[in-house]
Amino acid sequence: MIHGGTLVDPTGTRPGDVLIQDGVIVSAGNRVESAPAGTVVLDAGGCVVAPGLVDLHTHLREPGREEAETVETGSRAAALGGYTAVVAMPNTEPAIDSAAVVRQVLELGRDALCDVAVAGSITVGREGTRLAPLAEMAALGVKLFTDDGSGVQDARLMRRALEYASSLGVTLAQHCEDSSLAAGGHMHEGEWSSRLGIPGQPAEAEELMVMRDLALCRLTGTPVHFLHLSTARSVAMVRGAKASGLPVTAEATPHHLCLTDACVAGYDTVFKVNPPLRSAEDAAAIRAGLADGTIDAIATDHAPHAKEAKEAPFDQAPPGMIGLETALGVALSELDLPIERVVALLSWKPAAIAGLAEHGRPITAGIPANLCVIDPEMEWTVDPARMASRSRNTPFAGRTLRGRVRHTVLAGEPVVVNGQAQR
Ligand code: DOR
Ligand code: ZN
Repeated sequence: MIHGGTLVDPTGTRPGDVLIQDGVIVSAGNRVESAPAGTVVLDAGGCVVAPGLVDLHTHLREPGREEAETVETGSRAAALGGYTAVVAMPNTEPAIDSAAVVRQVLELGRDALCDVAVAGSITVGREGTRLAPLAEMAALGVKLFTDDGSGVQDARLMRRALEYASSLGVTLAQHCEDSSLAAGGHMHEGEWSSRLGIPGQPAEAEELMVMRDLALCRLTGTPVHFLHLSTARSVAMVRGAKASGLPVTAEATPHHLCLTDACVAGYDTVFKVNPPLRSAEDAAAIRAGLADGTIDAIATDHAPHAKEAKEAPFDQAPPGMIGLETALGVALSELDLPIERVVALLSWKPAAIAGLAEHGRPITAGIPANLCVIDPEMEWTVDPARMASRSRNTPFAGRTLRGRVRHTVLAGEPVVVNGQAQR
């Protein structure tokens, strides 16, 4: 039983206890005076009880980069962050571009501390030249496809992929980056890149591909999901596209909504990420896009990298930062939105984009108990040494955040209790 909290779900907000049996919610919304003997009680006093969070964009690094993360360590980080499901990105080694690798990752996910869904790659080896066997991956339940890490550069191939996706009922997600324009850039191109002497990637490298894919979306009528939007004009284009009725969705990361290119001033590679941290105006536009619904979801782009890799000089270090354990705290601290809206951006909206029917559901009898309990007032300081991720590359080290996960329940099992992972 989850006792004493306030339920927040797509139907609204109300006080109530939740009784769970055999992985399924048996009652929700009433105060339970006496639970059956032997009931495990999780205290939710002062807390919000919500559907578990869903991450559209997690790099779990398995297979191939187990020194940075594994399905086990990444799923533990996810559970501690309140997630009951994550979508594993396909830029592994080998890439998730065939039924065999999809099966391998799904198998690894079976014992994980959250549900692990898989995104397949659009092209073979994410090389951008030949379409991957989308149908055989879709047959295993893959619903999202992306070459994340790169965008599909060839417009004709992207058009064909969209037509194919349409017939399969799956969604293509794009990492928007024109590689010719971004080439050689290691941060956002602007005043800071000039001052620091680091070659930059212009905002237009992202915007060109957003513009092109909006055109391809119009041409094919097939939905497109835009990954980690980072510029004000990207947000404006998606806003316009939605107003004209195009079937597009978009996500933004916690780091792009509150960090800027000024963070790079100390040449600390922890702030190197793709797309790069942009200007303060861009970050404000991301927050405005989240507030007005232009951006549908917050996704972490959790990108663990081993210490040795991040210790390289700025131009040689790999881009990426971890985010699963801090996303909720950053969103609650940095967005001027009620908690109901923040939870929507982190739970049921991404669940709908990922097509995860067992997550982000209204908290009612008969549904699988995938839940998180959030203490919205708890202040805590981010300490990389205490994170569950195998990597420590968080840009929020030392920051005090308000809002933290108290418990996470996966299919009825308390996987996090009082902020501690249970296995
Ligand atoms: O910063 C990034 N890191 N951006 C990406 O697109 C890929 C990711 C990674 O896999 O490390
Ligand atoms: Zn990406």
